[in-house]
Amino acid sequence: MPPIKLTDKERAMLLGTATAALQNSYAPYSNFHVGAALLTETGHLFTGCNVENASYGLTICAERAAIFNAVHQTQGKLVLRALAVVNGNQVPCSPCGACRQVIAEFGQNTVIIFRGQKDYMEMSIADALPQTFRLF
Ligand code: THU
Repeated sequence: MPPIKLTDKERAMLLGTATAALQNSYAPYSNFHVGAALLTETGHLFTGCNVENASYGLTICAERAAIFNAVHQTQGKLVLRALAVVNGNQVPCSPCGACRQVIAEFGQNTVIIFRGQKDYMEMSIADALPQTFRLF
């Protein structure tokens, strides 16, 4: 298993890539633009952005968009190493509960990076979502 802690290079690369992905966000209703970038254990990088809908509940968060993109591109053969999320408003924004559940599905040791009250924070998904729901 790779170390839980990210290298400075991994962190900078993920935050830079998530910031670029943010430019593709479709968020005309909330104006809250979000980008996500994830790194797999095999070193592959995938991105996503939030996509909103006039029927608000159909909105997809950037984190899940990135994961679903990665699943599609890898035929589901992926284990997450880390996932970073950034927003255009520079405000605290940790992955929502739905995204935490989906992150945990694809990597129980995933490191998540998100903006906290002061600066970016880093923690494992196991800490962010204790007692994750599992079928097996
Ligand atoms: N959103 C994300 O994309 N990721 C998060 O972690 C939190 C919220 C999006 C959903 C919606 O388009 C907008 O932010 C406002 O909730």
